[in-house]
Amino acid sequence: MKTNPFGKQGWTPENIDNLERKTFLITGANAGTGFEAAKILLSKGAEVVMLNRNNSKSTKAISDLKEQIGAHAKVSFIKTDLASLSSVRQAAAEINKTIPRIDALLCNAAIAQVPKQTFTVDGFESQLGVNHYGHFLLCGLLYQKLKASHGRIVVVASEGYKMGIKTIQFDDINWDNNYHPNKVYSQSKLAQMMFAYELQDRLKGIDNPINIYVCHPGASATTLIKNSGSLRDRIIFGIMSKTPLVQSAEKGAYPEVMCATEAAEHLNQKGYYGPTGRMQWTGPVGACKLEPHAQDKAVMEKLWNLSEKETNFKWIY
Ligand SMILES: NC(=O)c1ccc[n+]([C@@H]2O[C@H](COP(=O)([O-])OP(=O)(O)OC[C@H]3O[C@@H](n4cnc5c(N)ncnc54)[C@H](OP(=O)(O)O)[C@@H]3O)[C@@H](O)[C@H]2O)c1
Repeated sequence: MKTNPFGKQGWTPENIDNLERKTFLITGANAGTGFEAAKILLSKGAEVVMLNRNNSKSTKAISDLKEQIGAHAKVSFIKTDLASLSSVRQAAAEINKTIPRIDALLCNAAIAQVPKQTFTVDGFESQLGVNHYGHFLLCGLLYQKLKASHGRIVVVASEGYKMGIKTIQFDDINWDNNYHPNKVYSQSKLAQMMFAYELQDRLKGIDNPINIYVCHPGASATTLIKNSGSLRDRIIFGIMSKTPLVQSAEKGAYPEVMCATEAAEHLNQKGYYGPTGRMQWTGPVGACKLEPHAQDKAVMEKLWNLSEKETNFKWIY
């Protein structure tokens, strides 16, 4: 086994120096790993803009963060519902107008294992719509600002990409005929990873391209399954969360914070970062094993073209 370049304990926030004058945008930062990532970044002096869908949860998160970090914490919120392309467009317009620079955009928000087929405002199956299409459009609309800032995109994926059909079901992308909560979640997280790896390819040869990294939080005790999973999944994950198989939400935030802040020469864009211990669910943060189907070029290209069509947005590099 390769040694972890960040030491036996893996990457931890102690590797971060100082983030003053840096700005990080995090989707879904009012809870779970996104909230913990915000806390770590703020504690190092960064400015954090949370891109959340819920006003009252965001107000509460800001007040909790200021209570824990101090009143000086530079944290704000722009309403962004990834289940609505028009909300994403509105949020991106506000960001482009009011936020001078973006050092990293952390695509963290997600819904998971939604028990019955449901749809976003624009008619996409909800997990693909929120997790993939919403972020695809948001990243595209913020790309020029990211580029001007020499910024990064961090995609928070999931070990779930290894489950299900391990590809994109193009002939029935909404799973009208065979809806399955977990397989559809797996497809959506694989789609997010393919977006990242395909974007890297598309930026080859561009002057000052942005960096794009893919990570996952392992198994972390957050509100993910509680919020969108079935009763059965909630009970199972609730029990598992009390065992060493599942780590804290704070530890789950380390991979995305690492990808947002660590020196580029220490990271590999074609890599995949997360906990490296048992089953890659917990343990020291470092480079994880990546299955080749995540970089299936033909599928990546087809998904990119479909995503541009479905979101009615053409990327300009
Ligand atoms: N926890 C795990 O074990 C685990 C494992 C593998 C991967 N992940 C990944 O880790 C990331 C973070 O998840 P988490 O575990 O921290 O879950 P979480 O506690 O449920 O947090 C998810 C966040 O996403 C937000 N969100 C959901 N739908 C949204 C929408 N339509 N628009 C904007 N924001 C939306 C939620 O907002 P609300 O509070 O308003 O619902 C919440 O802030 C996700 O990408 C997930 O796929 C987690």
